[in-house]
Amino acid sequence: MPKILILNGPNLNLLGNREPEIYGHETLSDIEQQCRQHVKASDITIDFRQSNSEGELVDWLQGSIGIVDGIIINPAAYTHTSVAILDALKQVDCPIIELHLSNIFSRESFRQHSYISPVANGLICGFGAHGYLLAMDAISRLVSDKEES
Ligand code: DQA
Repeated sequence: MPKILILNGPNLNLLGNREPEIYGHETLSDIEQQCRQHVKASDITIDFRQSNSEGELVDWLQGSIGIVDGIIINPAAYTHTSVAILDALKQVDCPIIELHLSNIFSRESFRQHSYISPVANGLICGFGAHGYLLAMDAISRLVSDKEES
């Protein structure tokens, strides 16, 4: 049973109310339900988490080593600042997808640099909440390719 960790960084708990013109009207809980629905017919299990704390995200990444088969991470603002999350991701040995609701490359210049991208297998951004489902499909493929190799 492949286990996928879906990590969400700071302020994503406010989705639905937070700048809906950028991030949409769905709450994080709506997105979690959609992810669970999306894998219902498969053997994938998901662990969906959010934290506003960089240290907690690092702890969860460390705790996932050897436990999860794939990681989807929307590091939110820590994308643009966190060497600690980069270093934690360097320690995991499973596929990683970096995810953003918005297209970070069409926004302010400080959002156009990611500390996370160099260690991610791929990046999905700009598709709003649907990006989570695209990321689930992408990580499933990466996990099954890894199992077969
Ligand atoms: C975000 C983009 C980040 O720049 C921002 O700080 C967020 C959300 C996104 O999902 O579009 O909090 O990661």
